[in-house]
Amino acid sequence: MKTIAVLSLKGGVGKTTTALYLAAVASSQGQAVTIIDADSEHSACRWAAHAELPFEVIEGEPDRLARQVKAARNQGRTVIIDTPPNSRELLLRAGGLADIALVPVAPTGLEVDRLGPTLELLADLQAQRDELDVAVMLTRYNARRRLAREAEEALEGLPVLEARIRELEIYKAAFGGMPTELEEYLAVWNEVQE
Ligand SMILES: Nc1ncnc2c1ncn2[C@@H]1O[C@H](COP(=O)(O)OP(=O)(O)O)[C@@H](O)[C@H]1O
Ligand SMILES: [Mg+2]
Repeated sequence: MKTIAVLSLKGGVGKTTTALYLAAVASSQGQAVTIIDADSEHSACRWAAHAELPFEVIEGEPDRLARQVKAARNQGRTVIIDTPPNSRELLLRAGGLADIALVPVAPTGLEVDRLGPTLELLADLQAQRDELDVAVMLTRYNARRRLAREAEEALEGLPVLEARIRELEIYKAAFGGMPTELEEYLAVWNEVQE
């Protein structure tokens, strides 16, 4: 089972939503899943506190993160690490423990512009560990907007997934419940497992 870290130095890009949906997808395939919530705001834990979920969400402890990941993996669990914004340290730590660094980004000039520092840190991690895969995931995607196409051009040359997550009310309203309508995240999941 691969460990996925959902990462971005920018907040509000859809990291926690992505962690919860991917956990729901993996659970629907019969995998035992642990989300390690490494964000000190604990959005993923608070989400889980409101819902009956078929996977566990545990608080990540920055100084024990590697041991937490190892313990879950040793139990055969799929691990998804949710991370805070604005923490180079936790980004490096979580990315250093992952097989896949998944970077959500909305197709707006601002978010694409802010992607650079995140990808720089990940490139350095990749220089240390060849086995780390980096994938940029377009989310809050609306193909009809001109901005979306411009952002897509700016993203050219980056490892952007084919699968994308649209801007939809179901995602916006998902906090505190069991994620449903998993098709788009299933496509993301399948693509990153390849
Ligand atoms: N695909 C989407 N469509 C619409 N709203 C979304 C989508 N993904 C996330 N959101 C909303 O965007 C906001 C930020 O998402 P969140 O997952 O909390 O980001 P982060 O963890 O990066 O801060 C939340 O209000 C969330 O409901
Ligand atoms: Mg979050």
